[in-house]
Amino acid sequence: MVKVGYFQFAPVFGEIEENLRTILSALKDIDADLIVLPELPFTGYGFSGREELLSLTEDPDESGTVVELVKLCRTQGLHLVTGFAEKAGEKCYNSALLLGPAGIEGRYRKLHLFDREKTYFDPGDLPLDVFDMDGISIGMMVCFDWIFPEVARTLALRGADILCHPANLVLSYCQQTMLSRCTENLVYAVTANRTGSESHSSGTLDFTGTSQIAAPGGRIIHRSGKETEEVHVAEVDILQSRNKCITERNDVLADRRPEFYL
Ligand code: ACM
Repeated sequence: MVKVGYFQFAPVFGEIEENLRTILSALKDIDADLIVLPELPFTGYGFSGREELLSLTEDPDESGTVVELVKLCRTQGLHLVTGFAEKAGEKCYNSALLLGPAGIEGRYRKLHLFDREKTYFDPGDLPLDVFDMDGISIGMMVCFDWIFPEVARTLALRGADILCHPANLVLSYCQQTMLSRCTENLVYAVTANRTGSESHSSGTLDFTGTSQIAAPGGRIIHRSGKETEEVHVAEVDILQSRNKCITERNDVLADRRPEFYL
């Protein structure tokens, strides 16, 4: 069995060190193999524009935030999937990092930018892929990627056992839809959403909380409240995400007919 979970909280916009302290304090005694954090948990979400984003992004390879998180991974024997405002040369990506005792073990850059994100982030430029965590295949997607079934499907086809889904959700129906992603791909999914709200020049964003861990077949293992700060860990059986049979004669991946699809 593998212990997977998430930390749901309300990051404070622009306060990278304070948000890091909140995360390190919440996870200091954690007993888990993998914890997923929300999208952009250090910077917050509602940038006024590219200039403000540039002032808050970091190169993960030179980031003190990443150094502290990797230390936590070493002391707790833990892996983390965290959202991250990534600076890469002249580009800024809304990224997810897989961190472990060895350092940065995987990187994903959000492919499908949501609404105003399109005005200041660069769209992701890395192919969807999975990363090994002690023999378990980790797939990463970020928030609005949920509305494109191709993302979860591609990660499942690449062998993902667990979809790790840092999020800053403002629409109310993602959590329900992620249960379908778990049904159609027979994978686990951990959606780590944030709580609270943020105001910026174009209005206020209210985030929907209700982070969840879902099982192959779409069963909710645990779902948090809309506003609670919460760490939750559950034991999952990876063998369940490796059996793709719906009936004796139906395998959700092997039965596909891609020659007929766009
Ligand atoms: C979102 O993609 N943060 C809604």
